[in-house]
Amino acid sequence: MLRGAMSVTAALPAVPRAVARRARPACSRRWGGGGSSHRRHPPAVAEPAWTTGRLGARRRFLRVSSETAVGPRSFRKAARLASSRDDDPGCAASDPGAKPPVDETVDDATPRPRGSVNGVQWASARVLELDANVPGWWSFPHERDEDGRFAVLGERGGGGEHAHSSRRLSFRDDSWTGFVRDDLRPPRSSLPPQRLSIAPMMEYTTPHFRHLVRLLTKNTWLYTEMEVDQTLRHTDHPRLDRFLDFPIAGHPTSLQLGGADPELLAIASAVAAPYGYDELNLNCGCPSPKVAGKGAFGASLMLEPNLVAECVAAMAENAGGAPVTVKCRVGVDDKDSYDELCAFIETVSGQLPNCPSAGGKPLFAIHARKALLNGLSPAENRAVPPLRYEWVVALANDFPHVAFALNGGIVDIETASVIANGDLAPFDDDGGVHSAADETLIPGNLIGTMIGRAAHADPWGVLATADVDVFGDTQNPETATSRRKLLTAYGEYCDATRGRFGVTKDGYAVPSTRHLVHPLQNLFYGEPNAKRWRRAMDDALKRDAKNQNVSVSELIDQTLREGGVSDETLDAPPSVRRSRKPNGLGLSDDEAADTKRARLRDAAKKLRSLPPPPTRSVETRVVPAPAR
Ligand SMILES: Cc1cc2nc3c(=O)[nH]c(=O)nc-3n(C[C@H](O)[C@H](O)[C@H](O)COP(=O)(O)O)c2cc1C
Repeated sequence: MLRGAMSVTAALPAVPRAVARRARPACSRRWGGGGSSHRRHPPAVAEPAWTTGRLGARRRFLRVSSETAVGPRSFRKAARLASSRDDDPGCAASDPGAKPPVDETVDDATPRPRGSVNGVQWASARVLELDANVPGWWSFPHERDEDGRFAVLGERGGGGEHAHSSRRLSFRDDSWTGFVRDDLRPPRSSLPPQRLSIAPMMEYTTPHFRHLVRLLTKNTWLYTEMEVDQTLRHTDHPRLDRFLDFPIAGHPTSLQLGGADPELLAIASAVAAPYGYDELNLNCGCPSPKVAGKGAFGASLMLEPNLVAECVAAMAENAGGAPVTVKCRVGVDDKDSYDELCAFIETVSGQLPNCPSAGGKPLFAIHARKALLNGLSPAENRAVPPLRYEWVVALANDFPHVAFALNGGIVDIETASVIANGDLAPFDDDGGVHSAADETLIPGNLIGTMIGRAAHADPWGVLATADVDVFGDTQNPETATSRRKLLTAYGEYCDATRGRFGVTKDGYAVPSTRHLVHPLQNLFYGEPNAKRWRRAMDDALKRDAKNQNVSVSELIDQTLREGGVSDETLDAPPSVRRSRKPNGLGLSDDEAADTKRARLRDAAKKLRSLPPPPTRSVETRVVPAPAR
């Protein structure tokens, strides 16, 4: 059965009031629709500031550091990294000081290039196949039922609110998948395990930032910014490209959705499915007032495990075969006991499909802090509540049939590597012997880590060796062997991508030069002349942000010269440049190897000194539905 005739923007049945209240388009401006330069409605800060330093954020971070579970050294680094850029455009949707949006209206009547664009292959190549073979694939198969009800999940509704007897209304019909070229997406079975992933971050994990990360590491999973279900529902094909298209080289990528209504999430999953994301993820961790408050999704979903179970089931049915996972906190407000967390995991995991990249188990990415929905800003919610890594460890031991990824406060690849490899023994002071205690501390189903802010604050330092250190490859990608090679490849991508969606009335290409170079902001973190280079880029952007005659590659080359970035910095491999001796010189190979080993030892020591894990005191077991 092909999808029905009704287009996405055609008169859709009215959304029930409660749903409309929960998922207001206002959220989509910031959390769902406002993030990347691909958006029709730009974020409140449409042209991201190139440089910001937030002493306030730094002070706050330092103030809370003593309350958290990891040691002081890592906190100094965390504070440095966090202060380098955490102006929280995503969670601080309520930021009153934000600049008014720049008019980013582009002429949507003009067809925009899709598929292969100037040598970059985009996921819309898959969608083009469908356009040719299954016209109208994006239309919703459901129509109003006799009562005018919104009945996407007719079959699932049984005798309840969404009941529907005569027609099959689920999006689950995947007949269109037969028209998608296999070579445009790696088979799911060949994807790497989620030993390391980049956390979803509004206005940061844009397709451009993700492409930069992909040039540094080919195995690390990339999470998109959150897309709100309402936004996808209200966007016509092919304008959906602005929200969903990504370079095919970006696999494996997980699309994060925000929402709290199973039907809307089903629609969002269905319209995203042909783009071929490797996974869909439901956001149950965002504490922003607009998301968790008015929107009643994000972290507030943790208060309603049964609803989350329904949501993920609806997503899974309509995801075109992509597994569905959940990102959540360890608690919300006063629902913050370990037992309540266990009840959440138990209820939701029963409806999650098994995830091939998580050893065939349902996967949760857990931000190891509770969220306080009233009283703390989103940025504070990422720093003030103490980290509870030991809770995630306890979950992994209590739920052996579920997989977990640890998120929150991880700022170095060594911690990621120790957790992914699951063996502390080699890093013991005495040479160590692998013990049963190690297996309890890093159980096999604690499959890896998810890194957020540090990946943006120091992409080169944190990620350039990830393939070898975390995934056990014999080498890192060629583009991660020096920043010169990285910048050359990234510049080519920018030149191919700038203006792909047209030009705004204000004369900015979409995506703009500024958006495209934004991910480079911290590429020279800790290097001589890093600030000077950023200033040179600032000046160049003031001059040439709208100038279509200057390519992005030229702009990068020019600012490297003006900023005085040395050949030594540009050509150095990652292991050497990350650590310098006090005299500023790079380390020799041996010294670099020693430093790395010391860092691994530190990471192992930190994990060994976690507080004792909580125990599940109340048996609140529900009988989980069989995993799909
Ligand atoms: C600017 C910013 C935007 C974020 N946006 C999202 C989001 O869209 N969805 C989400 O689940 N988490 C979001 N987060 C939270 C991160 O995914 C992550 O859980 C958090 O930053 C903790 O990880 P870290 O300590 O490694 O940064 C955001 C964080 C930041 C700093």
